Amino acid sequence: MANLLATKPLDMILQESEEQGEHSLKRALGPTNLITLGIGAIIGAGIFVLTGAAAAQYAGPAIVLSFVLAGIACAFAGLCYSEFASLIPIAGSAYTYGYATLGEIFAWIIGWDLILEYAFGAATVASGWSGYVNSFLQDFGIHLPPSLTATPGTDMVMYNGRWERLATILPTLKAHAVDPSTLQHVQGTFNLVAFLAICLVTLVLVIGIKESANLNSGIVIVKVAIVLTFIGIATIFVMHDPASATKNWTPFIPPNTGEFGHYGWSGIARGAAVIFFAYIGFDAVSTAAQEAKNPQRDMPIGILGSLVICTILYILVSGLLTGVVSYTTLNVPDPVAVGIDHTGVRWGSILVKVGAIAGLGSVMLVMLLGQSRVFFSMSRDGLLPQWAGAVHPRFRTPWISSILVGIFVAIFASLIPIGILGELVSIGTLLAFIIVCAGVWILRVRRPQLHRPFKTPWVPFVPIMGILISGLMMASLPLDTWLRLIVWLIIGMAVYFGYGRYHSRVQAVVQAETKPPKVMAD
Ligand code: ALA
Repeated sequence: MANLLATKPLDMILQESEEQGEHSLKRALGPTNLITLGIGAIIGAGIFVLTGAAAAQYAGPAIVLSFVLAGIACAFAGLCYSEFASLIPIAGSAYTYGYATLGEIFAWIIGWDLILEYAFGAATVASGWSGYVNSFLQDFGIHLPPSLTATPGTDMVMYNGRWERLATILPTLKAHAVDPSTLQHVQGTFNLVAFLAICLVTLVLVIGIKESANLNSGIVIVKVAIVLTFIGIATIFVMHDPASATKNWTPFIPPNTGEFGHYGWSGIARGAAVIFFAYIGFDAVSTAAQEAKNPQRDMPIGILGSLVICTILYILVSGLLTGVVSYTTLNVPDPVAVGIDHTGVRWGSILVKVGAIAGLGSVMLVMLLGQSRVFFSMSRDGLLPQWAGAVHPRFRTPWISSILVGIFVAIFASLIPIGILGELVSIGTLLAFIIVCAGVWILRVRRPQLHRPFKTPWVPFVPIMGILISGLMMASLPLDTWLRLIVWLIIGMAVYFGYGRYHSRVQAVVQAETKPPKVMAD
């Protein structure tokens, strides 16, 4: 019987992290690359899409406080990730941390759970990306066949010379007393745009880590520049017309409607759970640990640096956005574009769309990078077949797992609705946060003397807060999402008991150590 709680010895992990040669990953990333990798994964659909709906429906101008709250929650998890990523600088991230502290079965569960964060995360963002690309092309009169821009069953309608998702423009149609049945309808069949986006990103990832990091850095410069442009234009607008900004910001916390989560303090909390998606990605930096030149020093810089920069940008963007326009008008798919349009800068909305298209591109890139690195680690441990860990001798990337992950993610993105994908990503990420926070605390108790290049402050307060807040956010997700998580974990268990436990390298070591010596057996 396999020992399901066998932990992977830290010495074995550290030895693997020091491997070199053509079958190992290439150490090419410095601290700036790691910070940009984090920003690349963080700034995306959350700020460009979700902020508006969260302000309009739940928090009002106090969406700023939702961003502060979600940022604090992520900071607790970020501090715990930093301790592990500098102590155990290996591509498996939370999966390997779980292996070192909680045992093989938990490691497997986390590895399987991380698929929800990274693979489904990339699929969610690809779906959002296709929406922005489609809208951008239509600004220039280019119409793609609507059935190839949406997942099966999505109702697309022609309104004002543009193909739009019916669900998205229903409020506009109602406001203008347009009967949707009078419009031309087409059903989505396959989101080809999302499919191709993932294929393209996968190609870059196979070619090389340095190439991927460079492309990511380029995109990050563009998207941060555009976010800063919005901040600049909105600040000037608010300073020119402080009276209307003050009107838009008042009341700062709109009174609760009597229903939980609709404005008031509970609205701020619900807003935080929704825009939590905007912060996902800082932890993906830890999957690049085996490709960092000096992971002990630079992992915490990458994780915490990107988190701090994005938190500041988010607070500024959301605060200014609700000053420029009334939060009641922000329940749209492109709230930042709507805000900049209101300032009178005519090229603003095109600029924001470019920022979103570029921005979402790098989120897909880093999420897919994270997924293939987790599979790489799981395969090296024997829990997945050997080919999943094969490194291309020239490109030095885990090419087979990158390609397979790319194909599956492209299929998910083109067939599964964005709402279902997004909630699975949040629940999967929060579960990983809880396990990482618990792992830091457990390892502090079990191995207090271990040399930790970065130490999470105030243990166990910080891990406990990370666990509690992540747990509360998980609890706020719908029952359907919980059921999907459970089904996903059951499938994972079947794979582990069907394959992983028979091929585990750690189990082989444990069994060799517990076998009676030969003389006694004779
Ligand atoms: N944080 C990433 C985004 O907002 C996942 O797109």
